[in-house]
Amino acid sequence: MDFSFILDPYYIGLLFSGLLMTLLLAIISVVLGSMLGLIPALMRLSSQKIFNLMGTTYVEIIRGTPLLVQVLLIYSFIKLPVTLFLGIDLSSFIPGMLALLINSSAYVSEIIRGGILSVDRGQTEAALSLGFSKSKTMRVVILPQAIKHIIPALGNEFVTMIKETSIFMYLGIAELMYMASMVKAGTYAVKETYIVVAVLYFVLTFPTAKLMGALERRLKKSDAK
Ligand code: ARG
Repeated sequence: MDFSFILDPYYIGLLFSGLLMTLLLAIISVVLGSMLGLIPALMRLSSQKIFNLMGTTYVEIIRGTPLLVQVLLIYSFIKLPVTLFLGIDLSSFIPGMLALLINSSAYVSEIIRGGILSVDRGQTEAALSLGFSKSKTMRVVILPQAIKHIIPALGNEFVTMIKETSIFMYLGIAELMYMASMVKAGTYAVKETYIVVAVLYFVLTFPTAKLMGALERRLKKSDAK
């Protein structure tokens, strides 16, 4: 085993920029995915059958097909228009990002829906009987309580997204796995490169997961008061 490449500034630079790209992709997909995910979540909670059906269809189709297929599908549909329109090298980044955030939105939607359903029905009944409108009840009574369940789960989604970004390697987006293939090609240290990359992913995911666990316990405690 020869790990000497980790002392070479060139390879450190490659891996570090790959790490930053991985983080950026994961952050964008969870933040935008959460906003987009709110829509199917509310649709599935609505009493209107048609909204319910639309929300459910969206979530089930996305959760029932592999992310890789979604990425390649969206990529093959919009790569050409994006290239023609922008004419720059965002041609893989934009379709990839779009696929990832759509994928995340379906999972986040279930997180949000679960969070809202975890709030006792009695709370809604009490708010309505006090004369609150439905939307006010949602905003001031339900969401502030649901958020305690939602935030830690979003942290886990972030951890998942950090790992899932690795499939962007297939699009040639310079994230960690892609950079690993460059390091591997330059050093011929195949096993060593993958070991280092695994450690780097772990360094990102483990503390995040721990932090989320701690946050969850804290929010639970404040709930018990
Ligand atoms: N790798 C799996 C797939 O291809 C999991 C995707 C998980 N996505 C998420 N947003 N949590 O479907």
